[in-house]
Amino acid sequence: MCVQITPMAKQITKKVSHVGKIDWELTHFHGDELSTFRGSSYNSYLIRDEKVVLIDTVWQPYDCEFVSRLKQEIDLKQIDYIVMNHNEVDHSGALPELMREIPGTPIYCTKKGEAIIRGHYHQDWNFVNVKTGDTLPIGESTLTFIEAPMLHWPDTMFTYMSGENILFSNDGFGQHFASESLFNDAVDAAAMMYEAEKYFVNILNPYSTMVTKKIQQILAMNLPIDMICPSHGVIWKENPTQIVEKYLLWADSYQENQVTIAYDTMWQSTRKMAEAIAEGLLEADPTLTVKLFNVAHEDKNDVLTEIFRSKAVLVGSPTINYGYSFAVAGLLEMMRGLKFKKKKAAAFGSYGWSGDAVKLMNERLTEAGFQLIDEGITTLWVPDTDALANCKAFGRRMAEAL
Ligand code: FEO
Repeated sequence: MCVQITPMAKQITKKVSHVGKIDWELTHFHGDELSTFRGSSYNSYLIRDEKVVLIDTVWQPYDCEFVSRLKQEIDLKQIDYIVMNHNEVDHSGALPELMREIPGTPIYCTKKGEAIIRGHYHQDWNFVNVKTGDTLPIGESTLTFIEAPMLHWPDTMFTYMSGENILFSNDGFGQHFASESLFNDAVDAAAMMYEAEKYFVNILNPYSTMVTKKIQQILAMNLPIDMICPSHGVIWKENPTQIVEKYLLWADSYQENQVTIAYDTMWQSTRKMAEAIAEGLLEADPTLTVKLFNVAHEDKNDVLTEIFRSKAVLVGSPTINYGYSFAVAGLLEMMRGLKFKKKKAAAFGSYGWSGDAVKLMNERLTEAGFQLIDEGITTLWVPDTDALANCKAFGRRMAEAL
């Protein structure tokens, strides 16, 4: 039984309102794959023209709340069309609850979208498959559909609304950023842009080639864009295409003048090596930004965002059980999956007897597409003055190789 809740729809334009859910409590997403320390939102939009259209729904735990609030906003039977831009459960999760009320309402989605909805909910709803360029007149405005496969699922599409000049971009241009203020000009811009970048790195970077092509295709359509309404976070209202420009930059093998040193340590030897290497890097090139992270303690997605910004990553682990540490193993696997481009790397670490970690980390870094710029450096037991001097020299060599 759904609880009735005070309506909280927020007006975006004369015809469009936000009927989604702001999730202040969300700290992890995709299981534990992605940290969301600033919460998130599942944005759903209601368009009232001559026809009434609902764009996307919300995550399943909020399905009753969503439908209850929507009922207080509009008689559900007045909804003529549902548009599902993407059908991962954070957007399609409330469909079963909604469709119990309006089972015959047409659901506009891509062919892959229909397959995903069927695969998740096993219902024979009234699907209408759409492709790029297909249009749906809804009164004064027309909706135009633009397929965006692998941004970031095969079913993804964008929907453009003429008249209001809104691009409903679903995950694209989103941020995991909870805010009661709906618009980008009403929030802490630096914090929000960091979340937009972290979102791009951890969700979209593997598909950056497709990001560039899709943006170029949309730009070539010459659609006036007054607002970009993503499915997570705030709406890009003030200078909406600033995030498009950022995406073009980020998708093009992005890097800053930065080196990230990501290490784990058992008894501080590898930490001491990391710090000496950092000194060497800065001695050789004081213009570098050098950041150190103990990956066993730092958030993995924030570290990955720093690696994304870097020219090179230096990965350190002591040898443990003839391998490297659990935390470093997790990071290396995520670095492989995110498909970073044109980045350099090297490995380092302390050891007591076998010293396998550096060789194995070199193999993983190469497999992950990083260019190894050195065979790496090891230290037996605890580094003494000479060993630390060698680490500094290693850091200087790294700076010179960049
Ligand atoms: Fe926000 Fe891919 O779901």
